[in-house]
Parts: sequence; C-alpha cells; structure tokens
Amino acid sequence: MSSNTFGTLFSVTTFGESHGAALGCIVDGVPAGLPLDLDALKSELARRRPGQSGMTTPRQEADAPEILSGVLNGVATGAPIAILFRNTNQHSADYDAIANLFRPGHADYAWERKFGFRDARGGGRTSGRETVARVAAGAIAKQLLARHGVTVRACALEIAGIKAQNIDWDQVERNPVRAPDAEAAVRMADAVNAAHSDHDSVGGIILCEALGLPAGLGEPVFDKLDALTAHAILSIGGVKGIEFGAGFGAAVMRGSAHNDPILPGGKFASNNAGGVLGGISNGDVFTFRCAVKPTASINRPQKTIDRDGTPAEISTPGRHDPCLVPRMVPVVEAMTAIVLADLLLLAKNSRLA
Ligand SMILES: Cc1cc2nc3c(=O)[nH]c(=O)nc-3n(C[C@H](O)[C@H](O)[C@H](O)COP(=O)(O)O)c2cc1C
Repeated sequence: MSSNTFGTLFSVTTFGESHGAALGCIVDGVPAGLPLDLDALKSELARRRPGQSGMTTPRQEADAPEILSGVLNGVATGAPIAILFRNTNQHSADYDAIANLFRPGHADYAWERKFGFRDARGGGRTSGRETVARVAAGAIAKQLLARHGVTVRACALEIAGIKAQNIDWDQVERNPVRAPDAEAAVRMADAVNAAHSDHDSVGGIILCEALGLPAGLGEPVFDKLDALTAHAILSIGGVKGIEFGAGFGAAVMRGSAHNDPILPGGKFASNNAGGVLGGISNGDVFTFRCAVKPTASINRPQKTIDRDGTPAEISTPGRHDPCLVPRMVPVVEAMTAIVLADLLLLAKNSRLA
C-alpha cells in the first residue's frame, strides 16, 4: 500500500489501524527552533476525540499524544517529529459477526477487491480514527502558520439540510455540532439525534477559512493551492465534494458578476474566487466548503454479500458517529493547515529575496 505520506517540504506520514496497538504520525520538515505548544496540540486533539458528546461515537479514547522524537525542551529540533497514540478502547468483538460481510457505503468491498484481504476490526486503516494523527500534524502546522499571522478555522455550515443562517465564529465551540449559529445548532442536533434514534445517519457541509494568508502561496501548475487543498480534503474519509469561493454557483453566474473587482491597495470588492487565482493565493480570505456524506455504518438491516458472493443482510451495531460533521471540523482545519504550511515553505524557494 503506497501513499501514506502527504506534502513536499512539510510532509506528514500517518500509520496505524483503528484496532491495532497504536496510530501515529511522522511530521518532517518542521523548521528547527519552532516552539511547540503541547497544550494547544492537546486541545486540537480534544476537539476531534471520540466520546465528547452524544453527537459522536461513544468509543472512549484519551488520545494522549506521546512525542517520541524531534522536540527538545518544547522546541522543534528540525528532526522528524514522531507522535504516537496508543489504542486503549477497542471492542473488536463488535466486528466478529460482520467480518465476512461488506458494509454498504464503507470501504470494505473496494478494499477487499484491491488487496484480497482487509482488517475488519473497526475498519482498520480506513477508519476515521486514522485522523487523530492528521489532527496532531495539523496542530504543528497551525503553530507554524501562526508565526506568519495565518489562522485556519472551520464550522458546520449545514447538517441534515438545516443551514446556519448567521456566521458567528464565537458560537462554533459552544455547541456540540460546531455550528456558527446557536439557533440552527439546536435544530441540527435534534436532526442528528432523530436520525440516531432511527438507527440512521445524516451528512452536512463544512465551511473552512484561512485568514491572514499572504498572496503568493501555491505552485502554479500541478500543486495549485486549490488543487492541493482538494487532494487533502477529499482524502478525509466521508468527504464527497469541495467548492472554493462561489464554487458550483459560478456555473450560473456571468463573468461580470463572478469577477472580483480589484481595488487600490490590492483589495478585492468581493471574494467569488475564494482567495485563489491561478492556483495562487491572492491575499484575500481563502475559503471553501466541503460536502460530508451520512455515516455509512448504521444499525439497520441493509443488503450486502459475503466474501463468497452470497447475498446477505448486515447491520452495524458497533460504536459510530451518527453524523461525521462535528468531529470532522478539526480534521478539515488540520488538513488545510498542512497544505498551507507546506506551500508557505515552498514559497520561500520561489524567488530571490
Ligand atoms: C473523524 C471521522 C470519524 C468517522 N467515523 C465513522 C464511523 O463511526 N462510522 C463510519 O461508517 N464511518 C466513519 N467515518 C467515515 C469513514 O472513514 C469513510 O466513510 C470510509 O473510510 C469510506 O470512505 P468514503 O466515505 O470516502 O468512500 C469517519 C470519518 C472521519 C473523518
């Protein structure tokens, strides 16, 4: 299996399975001398942690990071930073009954066709648990970005068709669905709970923004800012689409309405571009939305086949998130921060001075 590493200069390798001994990441390219705030890293992990509310899987994992290398007295040495998370709360027996069946909507069938083998315990490497490592790496990227005045934030713009009517970023961490609108958050949470009681699941849309991004990030041909971000975000299990700025709405706009007028001082009168032109940041807010599907694993009977091809029925009684959106918000921030940190380091190579 290849492609467990993402990034060119700031690169992240993840390893581990949902029910194995441990998961973790190796982050390479962190500039020597970068002070690392371990409390900030832990608070990012706490935002993704399972069992944080009735909205998420009840699996209880401390997600305590063990920093094995690359940090001395709270400062990055420039060597690879390895971070380990031991699994402590696996219930592998939950998967015994479905080990020979494929969960509709999950990676099981395609994985088996590709490898002829799979780790059925908790989905193995296809589990959302792999993203604990991404969030740890993203927390380091965020700290590098902060030194350049860049912040990344995300929220639940829509869940189960219920849209946030206001964007108040102060609300996001005050409700369990991470919506930027307190009133919509209540209705979103009700919809998640209703789906859960019905042994079903719901999806939604995440909004992400990077503020303070200088103009000039993004390599103009294959490693465009938007192309790399799409790669990073679509690599998160359960993300089904991404749009930048006006996004798909651009398809029905006229050029005169879609073009963002350029004002004196290099400001823009609107931001239909989402802060990226020609794959390069233009100095405006970098903004995108991604679509998240309803969780595949649901505890109601669905048609499938077994490994011999015999028709069967499956329901997934294990511990699952009835909606992926709330826990995915910090994962989206992390992957965005990893892309931006990498492009920031690459940009330093782009021209003299
Ligand atoms: C943080 C996080 C938690 C997830 N939890 C679950 C879960 O409890 N049950 C589930 O079926 N899928 C879960 N997923 C989604 C699966 O990983 C994903 O659907 C699966 O790998 C198949 O990939 P695809 O949906 O992109 O085709 C989670 C994803 C993330 C990022």
